[in-house]
Amino acid sequence: MADKIRVLLNEEQVAQTIAKLAEQISQDYKGKEIHLICVLKGGVFFTCELAKRIHVPVSIDFMSVSSYGAGMSSSGVVKIVKDLDESITGKEVLIVEDIIDSGRTLSYLMKMLRQRNPASIKLCTMLDKPERRVVEDVVVDYVGFHIPDKFVVGYGLDYNQKYRNLPYIGVVEQEE
Ligand code: IMP
Ligand code: MG
Repeated sequence: MADKIRVLLNEEQVAQTIAKLAEQISQDYKGKEIHLICVLKGGVFFTCELAKRIHVPVSIDFMSVSSYGAGMSSSGVVKIVKDLDESITGKEVLIVEDIIDSGRTLSYLMKMLRQRNPASIKLCTMLDKPERRVVEDVVVDYVGFHIPDKFVVGYGLDYNQKYRNLPYIGVVEQEE
């Protein structure tokens, strides 16, 4: 069964929004250095495009997390598959995510990273599905797009590991 992908946000819309976010971030962090934390794998495309357009000094590190199986996901416990290479103590940390859905992953991640005493910690997501939020303590500092409760792919986001490479964001519509 082939999947049909309907374009939700085209390449140009995404590029324009990332440029705006990068400008805002550059203003907000004027005179400082930003330590970007890319959440693998979905955050990779967004992190690269954002980082290229930020004009204050930037360093980048990567982290990979996975939620425990479906039955346990409501506990909000996530497993660290790959931890950061470098210490974040004293750094201006900006977490870069592809999408915030329930908010469980980010809530857990932020709590864990705060214990490592960064100078500051903020959150930037390309997409946000506010209708789906179950964890209320996630404050998102920078949002690219608020989107409806639809399963989306492209620009790093996958459906069974496929479609991450699409240069736009689309909705998967399964053909009958
Ligand atoms: P949360 O903990 O429910 O906020 O889960 C967020 C994670 O679920 C994201 O980082 C994605 O990996 C995945 N996810 C949530 N919604 C979508 C979607 O629409 N398409 C692809 N992945 C999604
Ligand atoms: Mg993700």
